[in-house]
Amino acid sequence: MKQLSNRHILLGVTGGIAAYKSAELIRRLKDHGADVRVVMTAAAMEFITPLTLQALSGNPVHTTLLDPAAEAGMGHIELARWADVILIAPASADFMARLANGRGDDLLTTLCLATPAPIALAPAMNQGMWRDPATQANVNILVERSIHLFGPAAGEQACGDVGPGRMLEAEDLAQRCAELFNSRLLDGVQLTITAGPTREAIDPVRYISNHSSGKMGYALARAAADAGARVTLISGPTNLPCPERVTRIDIVSATEMHEAAMAAMGQCQIFIACAAVADYRPINCAGQKIKKDNDSMQIELVRNPDIVSAVAKHAERPFTIGFAAETQDLLHYARDKLQRKNLDMIVANDVANSSIGFNANDNAVTVLTTKGEQSIAQMGKNQLAAQLIQLIAQQFLSTKQEGL
Ligand code: CTP
Repeated sequence: MKQLSNRHILLGVTGGIAAYKSAELIRRLKDHGADVRVVMTAAAMEFITPLTLQALSGNPVHTTLLDPAAEAGMGHIELARWADVILIAPASADFMARLANGRGDDLLTTLCLATPAPIALAPAMNQGMWRDPATQANVNILVERSIHLFGPAAGEQACGDVGPGRMLEAEDLAQRCAELFNSRLLDGVQLTITAGPTREAIDPVRYISNHSSGKMGYALARAAADAGARVTLISGPTNLPCPERVTRIDIVSATEMHEAAMAAMGQCQIFIACAAVADYRPINCAGQKIKKDNDSMQIELVRNPDIVSAVAKHAERPFTIGFAAETQDLLHYARDKLQRKNLDMIVANDVANSSIGFNANDNAVTVLTTKGEQSIAQMGKNQLAAQLIQLIAQQFLSTKQEGL
């Protein structure tokens, strides 16, 4: 059977020079067995005609929201329900801005608001427009809403610039669509993630903590929910909104995170320890704010429980993944932690490099298991999270098969 047999793909075409590649894309999608319907924005029709896309798709092309004739054929709500996926290729900077703002001022934005189907964007624009902070802010909003981003690729552009902003090639986009249907690898699996920093109280107004932003853990929670898992996120204090379809348990200290993790044992099949847990806490938290009476002071600290080790030792041990955030000898320390903490997998991440460190939006990692290692090159934390969840799911499923 072809990869996209019987799949309904609603292809949105917006205004950009890459619109000419949409014609080839329709052919590739149909080669893979998809039924394709096309919606064009007014700007798209400046670049390519509806007639071309109608001839290639074999279906009428939809162009306006308030067209009685089109509504009589297949109304816009019906079209939104018909789609198994909405793929917008090319997606212009203006279209992404309108989508990020929840606009419904033309047929395509209205369909995106109305559809229950996943939405994927294949951005195409000048590299300066792609890099502009306004576009990047819109991309972040869209990815946080679980909209899939296919590309863009980097290279030579129609305007003569070189950089990121080229639409992915038609075959690549067709493959990515097929992957969307294969990606619910974790359907119904219970997954717990720890994320963010912990705070260890010194007195009622002070604490010991670290620079963790929680971004990686939250991105993993979102990617796991997208893959069909039932996700519980045990989170230290962060400024991040809880991803959709994720249950968040807010904690402050390592002791509270430990308790919440232990309470999840028995129901949880995969445990991902992404939190930057404080290793020590003050032995006593002062009842009142400490006054600076002396020139020096000492705070005695005591070890916190090692949460991921406790999970890996539990009688109902889930498939357990740890993180190793190191500033030197990354792989050496990661291998040591994999073994010492009895983990199934460890994700090693170099926090000395500020472009992929604690507060950065990007990350690059090496994933180690007892059987081997695999590197994932630098990319946005959301994209990286999707790749990591894919890897974790594959390992989890193959371990489960071996156990049968
Ligand atoms: N971890 C944990 N509980 C702790 C400390 C760490 O669950 N009390 C988890 C982290 O979430 C991470 C992994 O253990 O998945 C490794 O964390 P890291 O701080 O690098 O390791 P430590 O054991 O604290 O080792 P060290 O500080 O000596 O590097």
